[in-house]
Amino acid sequence: MGPGEDSGVRERQRERASALQLGLIGVVASAIGIAIGLAIDWFPTAASTQADEIDTLWDVLIVASVPVFVLVQAVVLYCVWKFRMRPGQEMQDGPPIHGNTRLEVIWTVIPAVLILGLCTYAYIVLTDIEEAQANEMTINVVGQQFTWTFEYPSGNGVVRSTQLYLPENQPVRFQVRSEDVIHDFWVPAFRMKVDAVPGLTTSYRVTADRLGTYPVVCAELCGLGHAYMRQTANVVTRPQFDRKLQELRRGAPQGTGAGQSGSAGQAGAEGEGATGQGQAADGKAVFAAQGCGGCHTLADAGASGTTGPNLDEVLEARDAEKIREDIVDPGKEIAEGFANGIMPGNYSALPPAELDALVDYLEEQSR
Ligand code: CUA
Repeated sequence: MGPGEDSGVRERQRERASALQLGLIGVVASAIGIAIGLAIDWFPTAASTQADEIDTLWDVLIVASVPVFVLVQAVVLYCVWKFRMRPGQEMQDGPPIHGNTRLEVIWTVIPAVLILGLCTYAYIVLTDIEEAQANEMTINVVGQQFTWTFEYPSGNGVVRSTQLYLPENQPVRFQVRSEDVIHDFWVPAFRMKVDAVPGLTTSYRVTADRLGTYPVVCAELCGLGHAYMRQTANVVTRPQFDRKLQELRRGAPQGTGAGQSGSAGQAGAEGEGATGQGQAADGKAVFAAQGCGGCHTLADAGASGTTGPNLDEVLEARDAEKIREDIVDPGKEIAEGFANGIMPGNYSALPPAELDALVDYLEEQSR
């Protein structure tokens, strides 16, 4: 064996040792990465039958993507460290490398198989959780700057609500529209979201299976008030839902016209514990339930929002009539220093009793 062959063998041995070292680091780092990825509690409490499959899908994606991430990072960092420039090598360049067919086939086939497999799996999950159910209920969701309105079919009209109410274990199909720009209707606890696109009706299905209240958010940057486009999804029992719908129907202008004055009492923020006939709804509770404090400052309500005018300052100059106009037709008179269109225009859909109570409450605060 000549001295040339000898150094060639040693070179190959060194390369194999490097590859082995790199592979070992990759396996250990992947295992740690997957363990961390699976241990992290990524999502809020699940509240729909769709959530389980989505959460499993997420875990599978973690298991599939963490090793890829780790492999790429390991190769980059390992090479930076192992093949770094040493003193005296400043002007040198490494030997040129030409095509390596086996390597190219491997790095094309593996990602292609991975992506195809994951896409197929995700497609199966999506069609499975979106399957139409018998006794499905349709709720229209309307997005506008910066609020959601929920419409329930009622007779030959609709009943509107600024909060979402869902009966437990009832399959629901949301039909989502937008009045202005693109929004995105998302209830993280349900794991489902879809864009609200002007001129289109998009939809998804959810069966809420856990009583409680969950945030409804907008997941598409839609303007100055985007961050405040948050409401509440109330998953309630069937009797509670029926009662709520009846309340909304009585309060709504397009309702059945039963017109019972009792609605004044029952239309308080949550309708619970109200005493009926003649008693005024609690305006302060309406203020809280409608999330007014998210945008307005009002000391009495413990609110400190700054998106809209400070009510501790501006109410003084407003009487009941003006206050009502500010709520139902916010574009008519814009407070100085604030842009038009930030205050949602859908508060005119508030049940009249709640609106009256809110106006009364705010007028009290102006004195
Ligand atoms: Cu609507 Cu963001």
